[in-house]
This record gives sequence, structure tokens and C-alpha cells, in this order.
Amino acid sequence: MKKTAALLLGIALLTACGTRQTDQTDAEMDRFISNLMGKMTLEEKVGQLNLVSVGFDITGPILSENVEEKIKAGQVGGVFNTFTPDAVRRLQDLAVKESRLGIPLLSGYDVVHGHKTIFPIPLGLSSSWDLNLIGRVTRAAAEEASADGVNWVYSPMVDIVRDPRWGRVSESNGEDPYLSSCIARTMVENYQLDNLAKANTVMACLKHFALYGASEAGRDYNTVDMSRIRMYNEYLPPYHAAVEAGVGSVMTSFNEIDGVPATANRWLLTDLLRHEWGFDGFVVTDYTATMELVHHGLGDMPKVSELALNAGTDMDMVSEYFLATAADLVRSGRLPESVVDAACRRVLEAKYKLGLFADPYKYVSEERAKNEIMSADKLALSKEAAIKSMVLLKNEAEVLPLKANQKVAFIGPFVKGRRDLIGNWSAAGDWRKAVTVWEGVANTVGTANCLYAQGCNLLEDDALIGKLNPHGAMIEKTAPAGRLLQEAVRTARQADVVVAVLGEPFGMSGEAASRSDISLPENQQALLRALERTGKPIVLVLMNGRPLTLPWEDEHMDAILEAWYPGTQGGNAVAEVLYGKANPSGKLSMTFPRNVGQIPIYYNHKNTGRPFDPHQKYTTKYLDCPNEPLYPFGHGLSYTTFSYCDINLSSTTLPANGQLTASVIVTNTGKHTGVETVQLYIRDLEGSVTRPVKELKGFRQVLLTPGESKQVKFTITPDDLKFYNSQLDFVAEPGEFQVFIGGSSANVKAASFVYE
Ligand code: NOJ
Repeated sequence: MKKTAALLLGIALLTACGTRQTDQTDAEMDRFISNLMGKMTLEEKVGQLNLVSVGFDITGPILSENVEEKIKAGQVGGVFNTFTPDAVRRLQDLAVKESRLGIPLLSGYDVVHGHKTIFPIPLGLSSSWDLNLIGRVTRAAAEEASADGVNWVYSPMVDIVRDPRWGRVSESNGEDPYLSSCIARTMVENYQLDNLAKANTVMACLKHFALYGASEAGRDYNTVDMSRIRMYNEYLPPYHAAVEAGVGSVMTSFNEIDGVPATANRWLLTDLLRHEWGFDGFVVTDYTATMELVHHGLGDMPKVSELALNAGTDMDMVSEYFLATAADLVRSGRLPESVVDAACRRVLEAKYKLGLFADPYKYVSEERAKNEIMSADKLALSKEAAIKSMVLLKNEAEVLPLKANQKVAFIGPFVKGRRDLIGNWSAAGDWRKAVTVWEGVANTVGTANCLYAQGCNLLEDDALIGKLNPHGAMIEKTAPAGRLLQEAVRTARQADVVVAVLGEPFGMSGEAASRSDISLPENQQALLRALERTGKPIVLVLMNGRPLTLPWEDEHMDAILEAWYPGTQGGNAVAEVLYGKANPSGKLSMTFPRNVGQIPIYYNHKNTGRPFDPHQKYTTKYLDCPNEPLYPFGHGLSYTTFSYCDINLSSTTLPANGQLTASVIVTNTGKHTGVETVQLYIRDLEGSVTRPVKELKGFRQVLLTPGESKQVKFTITPDDLKFYNSQLDFVAEPGEFQVFIGGSSANVKAASFVYE
């Protein structure tokens, strides 16, 4: 009887929505939702605020239980961690056909760098500085995910990162607010397009709001404390950009802001996000973040639920605290019912915008899954993205590109290793489908002239292996270290050049993967030292999720190619770059320090009152190492070389409502065709508050054939000079400014102008 009623009501809802068009006005949506909410009990409204995990991607201490029963009872608004048309259809059936009101479910997933076709990790992709590419990658991820039952993705992650000890820098777009904002906007636009109701779009979820990247000492989940002015100028811009681009949902971060954890922070979620920025989507917590408010010390279960709901949190991921307490809080008068109503409305609006009321099975299509997932064009894009994400950190004496007739010894556990190529947060990606470096070499030039030795185990450190393996790392010691090393040295001696492929097994970066020492694992360093003693030229190819400290490697290796975790097509991409079929063009989106003592380190730092002077004792510096990083933000070499002429300014004054142009001629002075990323930085020389020594304000990519020159022009307007002052007003202040243009933050031409 109950089931029949539910079915009838479900059909009635579907019919009511079926004729609705995607461009329905807000008023129509409001009417539809008011009508629906008029039928809902308080418990059913609270049910919409409950997000449960179905599956095995556990990122917290607990797992959701009795999910099916809860869906049928109207106690679930959304599920995550499940995919495939079949699995999602089964859950959607329970909601639509077996719950009293037949309200469809949101179906979320961490589609962080691809769904099944895996692209380079975000830190890698951001190193491409190629927004068109990032847009296409995002679109591909949205197409695959939406065909596979997912309508809501936990991406983009736009936390600004300045501390590579934090494992989650791998998921970020690096340290720069401008670059990260451009990427945030691009990703939101390409996940959602102009209409969320299209079957090939997904709702994006901006995370982690906010400041999660500033965890003290780079230790995951640690405290954050920062001034408002730093927040506004340096950490908030990418979140703001994503909100301006229309992101549909926002995930709270685990950390505190001004002493109040994000999930309970009303200033953050309501004053700033909704009132100041005009966000009109819904806010979900991170995994068990409501429950964690108890550990933060804000009170017991009812108290923290009340705080979170009052702060502006709408949906509770996995804790089930809202489910357990919200109705009683309302009944006892502790929580206004309007708070639950508002949260419920926002969740229902998301479902409405996604078109789920019109067709709950819109994102469930075996046929689309068959055609879209891992299609040839997506695999080609995965290779292209991996190529464009790689950063050539060093290339002495043009040891790269390799020549096809050279005898090359490929050495290292990452040469034939497959497990680590797709990296962490690889969603539904299947590492078994990844192309290894060795296979890539076979596909690119053949392996007739190549030798192979494993060289070392991924790790020797049993304590570390013991921490990583329970989470899928699959690290095995396949042979005694001494034997592997001897074989490697023997193999290297027979070759003209050695390519060592090393790095961090994927579990060493990502969530809950902070490190206090960010060098290569000690056993891998021992291998490199032994290889170096052979006197052969060595190319080091790195696969890792964070900037590493590489002082010895920088001194002793002939070339270093940062390949990150390159994704499904990683091996093909690495081989094409090594053999010069593709020319690397990536530029670092995050600084590589010389040692851990320099952290936090970032290019857009302040000048201080005692800027560095080598001849003066009392200036800002270390006794035991330079201030400069090993590889600065924006650094990345090519197989060709580029020269820059001096900056040409259209005027040395910028009037208040005017603009000026800054241009340079860039010339390819080498022997290969290549892409250069021309970077524009600005420095405000005099302000009411201290300003950074330079800030990225624009970039352009130019393709140049050998000998070719192109003019690259930037328009500068007063908007580019604006910053938040002490009153948190966004202003441009008159005075002198410097403009820098170059191929890295540390290698630029300079000019100056006055803003009137
Ligand atoms: C925890 C992570 O912090 C977040 O990034 C992720 O989206 C959620 N778990 C869901 O898996």
C-alpha cells in the first residue's frame, strides 16, 4: 500500500516535472519546491540533509550503515562513493520508487583528475598553465562521470598551498591566487556548462572552504590561523572565483578559521560566502566534519549540529548528526524550523537544477557509459595533458631529448611499475589500464636499444610500507636491495645514457600523507648515488605528488623531468617527451624548496623591512642556505631556448580609468619548436599596507618555431592593481608600480609606471 502510494506520487512528480524545460525561471523552481516541501514532514526535510557513503572510498573513521533502509525511509538526500549506471540506478530506484515522496538522490564522487580516464594530478595539470587544456580535461571528466551515474563531483579543490609537506598539495593548483583562480573558474564552467540539467554536466563542489592549505607545519587536519588581510589577498581569491563562476555547491574544510572550525563558522559560510559573495547553492561538510566539531571542543552532538546548521551548513557528510538531532532540536525550540527548511530547500534546488525531478535516471545510461568512458579521444587527451603537465627542471648539455640510436638504460621501480601512475584521488580509475614507461618507450621508439633494471624496491622502510599498504599501496620488496643495486650498476655501465624513473609511491602524497622529510625515499637516493658513480649521463624522471627537496639531484643529475603522477597514458607521454616527439612546456605552479627549513616558501612574499643583502648581517636570510628556492614558481625549461627583449610600455602613466599595454618580443633561439608561457607580474612599490615583491597578473602561451619571434602583449588596468587594504576594501592606490615579464617568476624583464 505504502509502496503503491509512493509510486503514484513519484510518477505524479515526474509528470509534473517532465514537461518543464531547462530554462525554467527561479519562480517556477520555487513553486515546485514549495509545493513539494508542503508535503514533507520535518523528518523528511532533515533526511534531505543527510549524505551517506556507499562503497569503499573511506576517508574518515566511520562508514555509513543501513543505507538502503534509510533511503527507503526518506532519510537520505544524497549518496557518494558509488558509480556505474547499474549501482546508481538501484539506489535511485529505492529513493524514487520506495520512499514516500520519491525524491531522487544526489550521487556524488571525488572526480578529482578524471573519472575513469585519469589525467595528471591537479598539481601537474596546473603546471600546464593551459586553461584550454584544463577545460577539455574537466569536460572529459564530466562526460565520463555523468554517464556513469555521478551527478555531483567533489572538485575543484582550490586551496592555496605553500607547504609541500602537506600531502594534499597534489590535489591543488599550487601556490598562486591568480593562476588558481583562473583554473577554478575554468573547471566550474566546464563541469557545469551553462545548464546543469544537461545529461553531460555535473554539479561541481568547491573545496575545501576555506584555507585548508594553510594547515600548520603541513600536517593534515591541523590548525589554521591567519590574518583577515592575508586571507582576502592570498587565500580566498580562488574560492571567490569559483563562486563567481556559479559553482553549485561548496564543501567545508576540516580546519578552523579564527578559532571556529569551518563547518560551524557562520562568518565564513553565511556572512562571507552567501552575503558578501552571493553564493546561492548548498554547503556540504567534509567527511564526518560535523562529528569532528566535538573533537574540536565545541560541544556534544546536538550542540555541534545546532552550530553547524545555524552557521549555514546544509548537508552532513557521513556523520549523520543532523539526522540524529535536527528534528529534536527544532521540536525543543533550540533550532528554528526555518533553518532546516532553508537547508532542505537548497538541497532540493540542486536536484531541481540538475534535472533530477524531471528524470531521476538522467545520469544513468549504459549506452553513454559504453561510448564515453575511456573512449579513444579521452585517452588521447590524457596523453596530451600528461605531456603538457611535465616540467623540465634541468637539462644540462642537452642530454634530452634522447636519440633513438642511443643505448638507454631505464632504471627504477617506476619504469615497469603500473600502480602509481594514476596517483592519488584517482576516482574510478583502474591502474591496471595505465600505460607504463617501458610500454610507452616500446610504443614510441621500440625497446631494441633499451636496457632495463629495477634498481631498487619502491621503498625499503618497513614502518612506512606498513602505513601505506593497508590503503592500497601494494608495495612489495621484490628482491634484496643489494642485488637490485648491483644489477642496476651493471646495466648502467652498458648504456650511453641512464634514465632513472623514481619518486613517491602514490600513497606518500594526498590526504593524510604529510611528510616531514620531502626528499626521495632514502633507498632511491642510494640507487641514484650508485648510478652517478658510473659516470654515465643520467636523466631523472620523477613521479610524485608534491615539490620534493632535490639539492643533490640538482647538482649531480644531467637532466630532471618532473612528470608528476601522469595518469592513464603516463608511460606514452613520458616516452614521447624523453625522445623529443613532444617538447616539454610545463612551468611550476608551486615552488620547490632546497630543504624543509625554507618552508613555507613562495614567490609572492613580502619584502620585509630588512630585505636580503649579502653584505649586511642584519638582513633577512639563513646562515646555512640561500633564501632562493631550488626551482622557483613559473620555472620550466624546454628543449629549445627563448629570449625576451626589454618590456615596451605604451605609457609610463596609468590614469584612473585608463589602461596601458606592456609587451615583449619573445624569440625562439634554439633548435626545436616549443611553447613558452610568458608571465606578467606586477609589484606595488608603495601602499597603505605592505605588498608582495611580485604578483602574477597574467600569462600567455606562444608557440614558436626555431628563429621565430612573436610579440606578446598584456593590457594592464587599475583592476590589476587592486588589493584588500586594512579595512578590507578592494582598492588600487596611486603610486609607482613595477611590471615584470618573463619565463619564470625569477627570470624577468622589468619596467615601471605610475598609477595616477
Ligand atoms: C575527504 C576529503 O577531504 C574530501 O576532499 C573529499 O571530497 C571527501 N573526503 C569525500 O570523499
